[in-house]
Amino acid sequence: MIIDATSVICITGASSGLGAACAVQYAQRGATVVLIARRADRLQRVAKDVEAAGGKAHVIVADVSREDECERAIGETISTFGGIDVLLANAGRGNMASVEDTPTSQWRDIFALNVDGVFWCTRAALPSMRKRGRGHIVAISSVAGRYGHPFNAAYVAAKHAVVGFIAALRTELVGSGINATCVCPAGILTEWADVTEGGAIGPLYGAAIPKSRRIAQELDIELAPLSRMMTADECATIIISAVDQGRSDDVFTHADTKPIAIQAVEDRNVQEDRFEALWRAMSDAYHEQRG
Ligand SMILES: NC(=O)c1ccc[n+]([C@@H]2O[C@H](COP(=O)([O-])OP(=O)(O)OC[C@H]3O[C@@H](n4cnc5c(N)ncnc54)[C@H](OP(=O)(O)O)[C@@H]3O)[C@@H](O)[C@H]2O)c1
Repeated sequence: MIIDATSVICITGASSGLGAACAVQYAQRGATVVLIARRADRLQRVAKDVEAAGGKAHVIVADVSREDECERAIGETISTFGGIDVLLANAGRGNMASVEDTPTSQWRDIFALNVDGVFWCTRAALPSMRKRGRGHIVAISSVAGRYGHPFNAAYVAAKHAVVGFIAALRTELVGSGINATCVCPAGILTEWADVTEGGAIGPLYGAAIPKSRRIAQELDIELAPLSRMMTADECATIIISAVDQGRSDDVFTHADTKPIAIQAVEDRNVQEDRFEALWRAMSDAYHEQRG
């Protein structure tokens, strides 16, 4: 789909990180960008950036972990602008806890935002897209939606659910003119690693990565390559290019992660062996941090 000054892009989680970067890049084409998140002040800042980049901004403060808020936000977008060309269901948050330390409330919060929010926004947007015979649903999952990572099982499970949801949605969209894409990024330099529920997960990786190299040497095992952290801008460019190409498939933004995802399907034991040193190091760091 060609995105230009007539297009309407609706982005959840637009107040920071990847959502804000996508908003500004779409604004550079003159598009109208609907910015959805909870923090009004941060949304207003992004709205200014959108206008400065040549786009039109419309701010909706909403909590997309709630069904009524998703319906209100998507409903307002459609009634104000007549439809949505691209729905970028991007809002998401991670968690930091071992499985036995994960409270039910944390598990449910993570699913409400990362899974239910994607479903509710998509369901609200589809009837209008079907009437117009066009549209693109883009859900941001993660490499955590394709293979496991320790100490954030709720997030890993939620992102796997997003992959499954988009796979099922695609089968219903055949012949409709509507595309559905699932994006699976690895590390992006945003606020994400600091705002995980249950404590910041960034420092856990920071402590574990050097230690994992020592463990790998001691055990004489191969260490899986860690992907390069990307800026939100770099990642946004890849996502927008996938939408431009009308890609209705899973997009791996970080080149070295797709082979690991394939290996996890073909031979999970081999894939998991490559991460053993990192996981041991993370386990040590987690228990040291928790005392
Ligand atoms: N950063 C990474 O390494 C990484 C890797 C793979 C996948 N991802 C995924 O990429 C997406 C974007 O994350 P990011 O890296 O850009 O992180 P971020 O900077 O923390 O952005 C998260 C966005 O989600 C919004 N949000 C959180 N809870 C919300 C709620 N209840 N209702 C509405 N909006 C909510 C936040 O806004 P408010 O707080 O203002 O509501 C913020 O705009 C997420 O789905 C994340 O899981 C990130």
